[in-house]
Amino acid sequence: MAMHRISIFLAPFLWFAAVSVTQAMESSSSAQKFIRISTDATDLILVPQGGDVHGVYFGPRVNNPDDLLVSRGKMASPVMPTFGHRTNNPYALEVTHANGDITTSLQFVGVKQTHDDVSETTIVQLKDSLHPFRVALHFQAFLHENIIKAWTVIEHEEESPVVLLNTPSAYLSFSADTYWLSSFKSSWGMETTLVEEPLSAGAKILENTAGTRGSFEHSPGFFLTLGGRPSEEQGRVIGGTLAWPGNWRLVFDLDQSNGLDVSAGMHPVASAYTLLAGQRFETPALLLSYSDSGKGEISRRFHRWARLHGGVRDGDKERPILLNSWEGAYFKFEEQTLLDMMDGVAKVGGECFVLDDGWFGNKHPRNNSTAGLGDWQCNTTKLPRGLSFLAAECAKRGLIFGLWFEPEMVNPASDLYEKHPDWVVHEPGRERIEARTQLVLDLSNPEVEEFAFQAIHQILVANPGIGYVKWDANRDVMNAGSAYLTRDRQSHLWIDYARALDRVAARVQREHPNVILQLCASGGGRVGYGLLPHFHEFWTSDNTDAKARLQMQWGTSHFFPAIAMASHVSASPNHQTKREIPLKFRFDVAMTGRLGMELHPKNLKPDEIDFAAKSIATYKKIRSLVQFGDLYRILSPYNPDLSFASLMYVALDKKQAVFFAYRTSFRVGEFTPRFTLRGLDPTKRYEITELNAEVDPKLARLGKGPHILGGDVLMNDGISLTLRREFDSAILLVTEKP
Ligand code: DGJ
Repeated sequence: MAMHRISIFLAPFLWFAAVSVTQAMESSSSAQKFIRISTDATDLILVPQGGDVHGVYFGPRVNNPDDLLVSRGKMASPVMPTFGHRTNNPYALEVTHANGDITTSLQFVGVKQTHDDVSETTIVQLKDSLHPFRVALHFQAFLHENIIKAWTVIEHEEESPVVLLNTPSAYLSFSADTYWLSSFKSSWGMETTLVEEPLSAGAKILENTAGTRGSFEHSPGFFLTLGGRPSEEQGRVIGGTLAWPGNWRLVFDLDQSNGLDVSAGMHPVASAYTLLAGQRFETPALLLSYSDSGKGEISRRFHRWARLHGGVRDGDKERPILLNSWEGAYFKFEEQTLLDMMDGVAKVGGECFVLDDGWFGNKHPRNNSTAGLGDWQCNTTKLPRGLSFLAAECAKRGLIFGLWFEPEMVNPASDLYEKHPDWVVHEPGRERIEARTQLVLDLSNPEVEEFAFQAIHQILVANPGIGYVKWDANRDVMNAGSAYLTRDRQSHLWIDYARALDRVAARVQREHPNVILQLCASGGGRVGYGLLPHFHEFWTSDNTDAKARLQMQWGTSHFFPAIAMASHVSASPNHQTKREIPLKFRFDVAMTGRLGMELHPKNLKPDEIDFAAKSIATYKKIRSLVQFGDLYRILSPYNPDLSFASLMYVALDKKQAVFFAYRTSFRVGEFTPRFTLRGLDPTKRYEITELNAEVDPKLARLGKGPHILGGDVLMNDGISLTLRREFDSAILLVTEKP
């Protein structure tokens, strides 16, 4: 489809749809030779020429950008293609102007660049050649983390409203021999599953149109490997992820001459947006990074950026180890059940207890999923002494108290629905389609937005002992329509919903800065940098099976850091897969993220309680390595030819690391490989000790020590571990030996 390409540039590189500059002030198009957007390791270079701005280069820093003007042939298509300007690109920016015109032609006006200590921001101003219609391409380049945040702002002064039909956040073009796409498909219970495939001619589209849950069908991120197969350690790779909780679309459009265009932004389906003169329309950001040393480096950059620059909240604070009540009690609990759970988690060294669904509703008690949603008052039959009592009981045991909410949803059997039937998303005259016996509240209505905020806020104000909130969302938008929006603005619903959701989350964050927020949507349905800046962590999946989690957490780790990835030890047999997995393996997997538990401790045998307590003590020793270290993915759990998986976290100063190895199945004749390590200092010597095997010598997988080895040998030759059976696992602490 990408027939609009005019020429190909520098073979290994790409050009791009917005970037930065050579000087710090506004400059005119004629004066501007090129626009340079630099991070410590990369350059993104645009060239204004003939009125257009062309994307020229995205790759390692160049010594002399002028060389690119010489090495390049003819200019390629504009950095932000528009529908009707030279080509009818279906994935370009598309608007209907006030007078009915359907084409747009953007001309370069100028560029502005500002700096602070951590980033450089570049704004490329473009203007339609006919109408008073302006587009500004924004790029914030985070210097040390090598992440570029790209987004688009649209404004106009036309005589009547303009209708926005497709508004890419960024538009990139690449030129290479081959392209491999790594993407992350999702469904309930199998979120963020890595899929790697070569791109072939035509358009490959990744999208999500669930309305409420931005990563329920697919994660909004991609890795693109240029000129080779995806690898953790090698190759030219671009990683990109869209920071938007609503509907989105990523298009990879490979043309006949092997040029690849990538368009990323909000999904245009049924989303025509009317923009009044003088109003400002800002797209979500596409976060981007380029590496010439494989996918692993890109992941580490995203993790560092997220922890340091607000991608996740409080990225410098260790997360508490918690017990969540869901799989241990579901809706069936009374006060004593919760007190027992608190005792259980306190006994094994946990730091927080979270009461999940089922605590609210009186006229319509929330005893199952059919009633009560929307009535955010404590159920006095189940919990006669209220939430403050539970918070105080937690405090007595040294635990933070956490509580579940689903503020955007309502059961028809609720006081809320009886009072406000028009507050739900629905198209008048059509059946209101229920899912999980619930309906979606219409957040495009400011009164409903206020309600969603107050639902959480009032409970937190009345119960200052609550220190953690789990924010869930368990269905999609169907039968889209709003009783609030006017008939000619119905297609605003998707964007207005997502923006309102962001505002509510930001307000909860602002009003309750000390409350830890977890982002959940039927598991990992909302994992993305759209909402994560307001949240400390996300619930990765309702599937807590450790073997399945190895794959999902591997996929999730491509963009999201371990500090934010909630990973819980649950019962065996597992409730979702019915698989039986030893407790050690379950802990060893959960300890690679933010460790927690999802069970009733009273169902653990005494030796299991002992093991849980020791594992939690072990986790406390390695918590800062896991939560703040650099991740190295080594043996992939997706490799169908291998029954082993391994990964590790390395402290930024390389003085300590923690290594995890797993055997995921048993095949006769398959021997345990040597496990090579990564990310160490080859000149240092390290002592290796095994963790989490102290309870029972039979659990030891590392031979008798001492094991003191050079970083070079550990990384090049590796180390032997005995993982004989399915679900054997090992954790090694690697400490510099001066
Ligand atoms: C879906 C979540 O993913 C679960 O963890 C749990 O909170 C249930 N909702 C409660 O209804």
